[in-house]
Amino acid sequence: MQEHTGSKLAARIEESLAERFGERPHVDPNLTGLDELARIAGHRVHRDFLDRPVEPALLRLICACALSAPSKSDLQQADILIVDDPPLRRAVIALMPDMPWLAQAPVLLVFLADGSRTPQLARLRGKPFPNDHLDLLFNAAVDGAIVMTTFMRAAAAVGLGCCPLSAIRDEAGEVSTLLGLPQRVIPVAGLAAGWPAQAGRITPRLGLDTTLHQDRYRQADLDRQIDAYDRRRAAALPYRRQRAVERFGEVQFYGWSEDKARQYAQPLRADFGRFVRAKGFCLD
Ligand SMILES: Cc1cc2nc3c(=O)[nH]c(=O)nc-3n(C[C@H](O)[C@H](O)[C@H](O)COP(=O)(O)O)c2cc1C
Repeated sequence: MQEHTGSKLAARIEESLAERFGERPHVDPNLTGLDELARIAGHRVHRDFLDRPVEPALLRLICACALSAPSKSDLQQADILIVDDPPLRRAVIALMPDMPWLAQAPVLLVFLADGSRTPQLARLRGKPFPNDHLDLLFNAAVDGAIVMTTFMRAAAAVGLGCCPLSAIRDEAGEVSTLLGLPQRVIPVAGLAAGWPAQAGRITPRLGLDTTLHQDRYRQADLDRQIDAYDRRRAAALPYRRQRAVERFGEVQFYGWSEDKARQYAQPLRADFGRFVRAKGFCLD
């Protein structure tokens, strides 16, 4: 029985990774933890949710699991903010008008980089704090991202679907005011969660020959690798529409690299650094 389940899970992981990377690894069916690997390998974001609430106790459990994530120097510089009050939720969602599906998401969270407590410890214990530089922000932001990733993993384990939201930073100042974020506390990302209404789809990633390095960073064949990825991805998951057609026109083959080049051909969140500095972080 165990062996049978192991073989099925191993095959599922192999299929997910083949779809993701265009290469099929061999997975030993006798490995432990294959159910966890199957969920990780089969990851997809969810933006369509059932009209079914997520119990507060379950949400608290997943938040506690998420906040069990490792933390740089045990400094514990990441927080989760649950946006639950209906008028506040509406006000926050209104700041992300390109994502109307958010109104149907049962759970809305904001993952925070909290650089406020560490200097507070220095004040509390009467110590100098000569570390007010970029690393304070970087550590807190990395911790915030790790906590968010752990939240997604815990949520997936109980069958919930999630979608991170960098869009929460589009109007970072207003979000900060609405959520009462003090100095040195900034949003890393928002996150929508709920019970998925659809199975969702695996999104292919760049090949492992591009993103997995051994001993030395390799970039030699990048153009060809990107081209190969564009074609593999377009065969599995073509874009439904082309971006910024009024500026760049329609092209016959529209791949990932064309889409990302068009996306980043306009300034995005160029004022974010100003916001972060105004929140009291030093970026030097
Ligand atoms: C930090 C972060 C921010 C994201 N922000 C948004 C967002 O604002 N809106 C959105 O619809 N998706 C957002 N996403 C989801 C990505 O678009 C998604 O992960 C990507 O298209 C790959 O799809 P997959 O996660 O299903 O493999 C974000 C993902 C991450 C990791």
